[in-house]
Amino acid sequence: MNQISEFHSLINKLIREQQFPSTPEELYAPIEYVMSQGGKRLRPMLTLLACDMFGGKTEDALYPALAIEVFHNFTLVHDDIMDKAPLRRGKETVYKKWNSDIAILSGDTMFAMAYQYAVRTQSAFIPDILDVFSKAAIEVCEGQQYDMNFEQQDDVSIEDYIRMITLKTAVLLAASLKIGAIIASADKKSVQEIYNFGIALGIAFQLQDDFLDVYGDESTFGKKNGGDIVANKKTFLYLKAMTFADKDKARQLHQLYLDKGMNPQEKIEKVTAIFNQLEIEKSVKSTIDWYYQQAMSHLDHCTAPESRITLMKGFADQLYQRNH
Ligand code: IPE
Ligand code: IPE
Ligand code: MG
Ligand code: MG
Ligand code: MG
Repeated sequence: MNQISEFHSLINKLIREQQFPSTPEELYAPIEYVMSQGGKRLRPMLTLLACDMFGGKTEDALYPALAIEVFHNFTLVHDDIMDKAPLRRGKETVYKKWNSDIAILSGDTMFAMAYQYAVRTQSAFIPDILDVFSKAAIEVCEGQQYDMNFEQQDDVSIEDYIRMITLKTAVLLAASLKIGAIIASADKKSVQEIYNFGIALGIAFQLQDDFLDVYGDESTFGKKNGGDIVANKKTFLYLKAMTFADKDKARQLHQLYLDKGMNPQEKIEKVTAIFNQLEIEKSVKSTIDWYYQQAMSHLDHCTAPESRITLMKGFADQLYQRNH
């Protein structure tokens, strides 16, 4: 078994072993539902890979890795309420299957559980882990607030957008890596470089997510196509389209985003047609490439065995090719 699949098995086994209480059922059934759905388990993988890269013990990183995955799943449960998303990982979202009150409370519980898991490691690492984890959690909320503000805001720049996705998505990938590096007692410069690797990787990852929201295959991606368009999200696709569009197209696109009464499917088709005419796909792909290259260059500045850096690069390459 190669290292990546070995780590995958460890993460999946640990998640399967967690026994959540059974009552009140309305609180714990959604947690069980979400945690057993899978997903890519990307963030705990980053923690284990970073820990291993800098020579740490995998067993010390397992529960902190689980903490990050539980936290991530909590953010998805709440995110789906905010984004009114019906589908995730090919299944009904928690607030749709149960209701919003249940989704809020189950999510809150997962957030607290994440802290319980985060401290299940050697005591010397705990203060730094909590510091990194809490900072990331606050930043994710800041990013989510900007994401929602931008739905109503007209003058969002690409720079604003990059800052927003750095907060809502990239900081958690970066924190996952940093926590792994802390558990391996990596040197200060390497800890910073691996964090920066995570930021660039995370920006590329969210750009791909925005792209797949429009162009992905719904059954593979597991989320409803065009959800961002229906929610008037100022994604990279929309913002780039606005910069490429002539006056007439820009007005059309702006109008489509203002229209509250339009049939969602019709809106998705019209907006996508404009994206296609402006060849937005090319521009998103080259920006994704750019961030991936940035990410890779940070890895080259880490003090770690070449074979481990290659392993991390290989994992990033897999992400680069993702379609879900
Ligand atoms: C979804 O994250 C939210 C984003 C930051 C885009 P993932 O794409 O990692 O979701 P799962 O856990 O694999 O379902
Ligand atoms: C993800 O943003 C950010 C967080 C969940 C914190 P999205 O809203 O794009 O994520 P998906 O597409 O619903 O997974
Ligand atoms: Mg969202
Ligand atoms: Mg969402
Ligand atoms: Mg998305």
